[in-house]
Amino acid sequence: MQSYILVLIQIIAIVHDALASSSLVVPVNKHATANSLYSTHAYFNYPQYHQQNLLIDLDAPFMWRSSFPHQEMCEACPNLVRCEEFQCTDLRTTFSYESPLCAPPTNNSMDDEYNYCEICPVNVISPVTGECSQVITTYDQFMFTRSYGGKNVIPHNLYVIYPTVGSTPTWTFDPFPSSVVGVIALSSSPYALPAYLRNPVNRIIALCLPSTVSTPGVLFLGNGPYYLNPESNVDIRSLLSYTELLKHPKAFGYFIGVNAIVIKNRSINVPANATTKISTLDPYTKLRTDIYNDVFRRFSRVTKRIPPAKLVAPFGLCFNTSVNGIKVPDIDLVLQDGKKWTISTANSIKQVMEDVACLAVVDNGPTSEHAIVVGTYQFEDNFLLFNLENSTFGFSSSLLHRHTSCSNFNFTVDQ
Ligand SMILES: *[C@@H]1O[C@H](CO)[C@@H](O)[C@H](O)[C@H]1NC(C)=O
Ligand SMILES: *[C@@H]1O[C@H](CO)[C@@H](O)[C@H](O)[C@H]1NC(C)=O
Ligand SMILES: *[C@@H]1O[C@H](CO)[C@@H](O)[C@H](O)[C@H]1NC(C)=O
Ligand SMILES: *[C@@H]1O[C@H](CO)[C@@H](O)[C@H](O)[C@H]1NC(C)=O
Ligand SMILES: *[C@@H]1O[C@H](CO)[C@@H](O)[C@H](O)[C@H]1NC(C)=O
Ligand SMILES: *[C@@H]1O[C@H](CO)[C@@H](O)[C@H](O)[C@H]1NC(C)=O
Repeated sequence: MQSYILVLIQIIAIVHDALASSSLVVPVNKHATANSLYSTHAYFNYPQYHQQNLLIDLDAPFMWRSSFPHQEMCEACPNLVRCEEFQCTDLRTTFSYESPLCAPPTNNSMDDEYNYCEICPVNVISPVTGECSQVITTYDQFMFTRSYGGKNVIPHNLYVIYPTVGSTPTWTFDPFPSSVVGVIALSSSPYALPAYLRNPVNRIIALCLPSTVSTPGVLFLGNGPYYLNPESNVDIRSLLSYTELLKHPKAFGYFIGVNAIVIKNRSINVPANATTKISTLDPYTKLRTDIYNDVFRRFSRVTKRIPPAKLVAPFGLCFNTSVNGIKVPDIDLVLQDGKKWTISTANSIKQVMEDVACLAVVDNGPTSEHAIVVGTYQFEDNFLLFNLENSTFGFSSSLLHRHTSCSNFNFTVDQ
């Protein structure tokens, strides 16, 4: 009798946990490509129930993938968005990719097989090559795994969304890592994934990119708590500093206000009208030339005791690490409300060869659109939280200083 009650209590506890669990959790894989791309996966119902890998993109206006299901391939194909529907015009006019390389949107079919107005082709830009192409829009169905209170993965318990997705049967996604078939848009666009999250899963994205290709990092969708080993009782939210996410006209990505860059007590001013974007597609932080030059000068000065090495492209400052290894002063991004995002050696210096390491920051030219584009190398093993419910951005700085990393989520399915 007692054991029966115990089991009952355990079952109630599990059901309670599952209901209380308001976040979804998926692994994030780093690809061994030169430009360090990151992907995650979702489960799709079409053409048949299976898992597909999608490139993580904080900027993309909507999601898209290859393997558009031809009618013969599935019994219950997703519905096509027709060109006279509101979604089609909305996507084409307001929430689309924009590039001078793209032909202006038309209502022409991209494939003779389809009749005029049966389909809604929209332009997409390859985040890897910048090439423009067209996809057909469908009402699709994706699923994500849930987490047990931010600690484990719940078995057989999927969260379903019904997004509008661009699909194509022909696009080969050539420059993508081989297993990746599309783009998961995590931006603030109404056609990106966060917009489809519903109570109790809040429109909150927590992204923790791994620094290694061998162990995945983690993406949470929805409010925390979030836990990483070995401190299984420390909610990562308690380690975060918060600042305001800024709006940018005509962009769906995420912007923050950076007032200054501080290196060893010396402050480099960032002009008040400068914009700072966070990008999952740029491997290294890109600085407009005026800011790059100041950072370069200051960083060279504070590292003048470290023997230099021949430059390795695309970097402008490299060191010979054969004798002493390398440890450099922090680079602090001082944000508009005085909070500091600290970039320490693991995120500022990249070992490019056995005895050469470089400052992993690049010159973005004198007239770049954004003064600062924070690239992925600078936030691997940093926990970033994009809260679209209240437009706040949370960041941890390097988790390595907390003796954990983005590769420490326990993906063991809790049976
Ligand atoms: C496409 O067709 C729809 C319905 O006829 C129309 O409302 C829309 O303006 C057309 N779009 C373009 C770009 O021609
Ligand atoms: C930086 O300034 C603080 C006080 O403003 C001082 O305590 C510290 O020693 C300085 N550090 C360096 C490296 O100069
Ligand atoms: C930013 O301000 C500087 C002067 O403070 C000005 O020269 C520059 O054109 C401004 N840039 C933009 C994009 O407004
Ligand atoms: C680094 O320094 C060591 C010893 O000074 C030297 O033998 C080696 O060739 C240097 N390597 C590079 C890449 O500069
Ligand atoms: C936004 O929400 C998060 C948690 O959901 C909270 O920690 C934070 O204080 C909120 N920020 C503002 C400015 O309301
Ligand atoms: C990971 O989770 C499983 C299932 O809850 C648990 O048995 C295991 O001890 C956890 N591993 C670590 C390292 O915490």
